[in-house]
Amino acid sequence: MLRFDDRVAIITGAGHGLGRAHALLLAERGAQVVVNDLGGALDGTGASTGPAAEVVELITKNGGRAVANTDNVATPEGAQALVQTAVDAFGKVDIVVNNAGILRDKSFGKMTVEDFDSVLAVHVRGSYLVSQAAYPLMKEAGHGRIVNTSSPAGLFGNFGQANYSTAKMGLVGLTKTLAIEGARNGIKANAIAPIAWTRMTEALLPAEFEEKFTPERVSALVAYLVHDSCESSGEVFTVGGGRVARVFVAEGPGWKTDDLTPESIAGNWGSVMAEQPYVLTAGDSMKAML
Ligand code: NAI
Repeated sequence: MLRFDDRVAIITGAGHGLGRAHALLLAERGAQVVVNDLGGALDGTGASTGPAAEVVELITKNGGRAVANTDNVATPEGAQALVQTAVDAFGKVDIVVNNAGILRDKSFGKMTVEDFDSVLAVHVRGSYLVSQAAYPLMKEAGHGRIVNTSSPAGLFGNFGQANYSTAKMGLVGLTKTLAIEGARNGIKANAIAPIAWTRMTEALLPAEFEEKFTPERVSALVAYLVHDSCESSGEVFTVGGGRVARVFVAEGPGWKTDDLTPESIAGNWGSVMAEQPYVLTAGDSMKAML
């Protein structure tokens, strides 16, 4: 059994849904957990100490160790205070699961700057800020595990979610660069793109999904990714309903000529669009252009 004894985990947005399930699983397997949740509504408005406190109570009742934190991950002060909560309670931070999220769905033409900025603030700034606040501690320890929460809506696009898709694809970039920079200090970063029945999706998913798409079926992957034994870094995985799959950003073989014109591109569009054989890194992409 993969256990987390002596590991300290911060889970953001852990008062409900996926984060709650991640917190319960890691605590059950020995981790000391900081349960962060602002306790607001799905659109990010309001705040309450209730959800984080309830999860901590449940963990404690089950014999685990956890503390609640209600800071807003989207502000630098909130992210710093969250990491400080972990240090004060448990002395360190080994694991960060950036899970907090809000929704402000609107079709593109109707989306306001406020809708756009507020969604990016929680998902992208929040993940950046909490990871960065924990980063010096991880560097010093020569060990760290970070999981960012992307979405199929970001990877593949989704109607009415221009703000959310932008944020969720942004997290893929953050994850990949964190993985590259963290490697020399034993810090691994991966992203998940989950599907689960939570308050965020209960109005969107078909009713029969409730039983199959449990948050616990996502938490199993999160637990593996943040375990010491997991070697993967910089990867993205879709996960839901009991299935896990690697998603990769790949570049096709392309089409090359010394005489690149709009017309020659148009005439060779089939080759430009080819998918195989592909390359997976910026270095290999550059090599293919030489
Ligand atoms: P949820 O609404 O149940 O949980 C999100 C939690 O984040 C809430 O408890 C909320 O209070 C907290 N939160 C929001 N803003 C915060 C802030 N600024 N600071 C601290 N906490 C904050 O939703 P769910 O489904 O559990 O979502 C978790 C993550 O998974 C989100 O990032 C979401 O975008 C992502 N996701 C979920 C999918 C699903 O199928 N449920 C699909 C794809 C991605």
